[in-house]
Amino acid sequence: MQLIQTGKYSRVHFDPERDLFIKTFQPKPFDRLRYLLRIRPYPGRNFALIAARLEALGIATPTITEARRYRLVTENIHGVPLRERILDDPDLQAQYLDALVAFDREGIHCRGLHTGNFLVRDGRIFAIDLDAYKAPRFWRYPRREYLDCLSRSLTGDEAFLFQRLLDRLGLDEHYRPKA
Ligand SMILES: Nc1ncnc2c1ncn2[C@@H]1O[C@H](COP(=O)(O)OP(=O)(O)O)[C@@H](O)[C@H]1O
Ligand SMILES: [Mg+2]
Repeated sequence: MQLIQTGKYSRVHFDPERDLFIKTFQPKPFDRLRYLLRIRPYPGRNFALIAARLEALGIATPTITEARRYRLVTENIHGVPLRERILDDPDLQAQYLDALVAFDREGIHCRGLHTGNFLVRDGRIFAIDLDAYKAPRFWRYPRREYLDCLSRSLTGDEAFLFQRLLDRLGLDEHYRPKA
């Protein structure tokens, strides 16, 4: 078993024998309470709920082999990070922007929609890290918050992608509809 990444509240391991990624969650007590009270879905379950939603929108996601409350196992996508391919590939840019436009339309929010959380295989993008996504339930996250997070994720060489997103949404730089 190889440790791939340690986050604040999660860890990702890779099992080379089974070619699987295993993500485990160690949330803080306040979040555990929120899961227990069903205010939010458990992270492992949320991953599966979001994956189903994204697939319905035509966005590829990893194949899930196990989705427990605090443990999620997915098949290796065998992809490369979108970040490494997007700058000189107009088709990947279009796929990424299509996904961001769909999330805006559907009220799907996530603070980590940067190009490191998508992988590319056979010319197609796959969304990963889905436990952190939030699907609207009783209310949706404000659009401004969604766009602010993206503007912080898409900087430097990738800043043009955020401009293109605003164009696609018909918004100016203050997120107001263009006349
Ligand atoms: N199903 C998968 N296929 C291929 N690589 C994966 C898969 N799941 C996770 N990874 C790899 O593990 C890394 C961390 O996983 P991720 O879910 O993004 O965790 P974190 O929340 O720590 O960012 C990813 O950037 C990717 O390189
Ligand atoms: Mg990630």
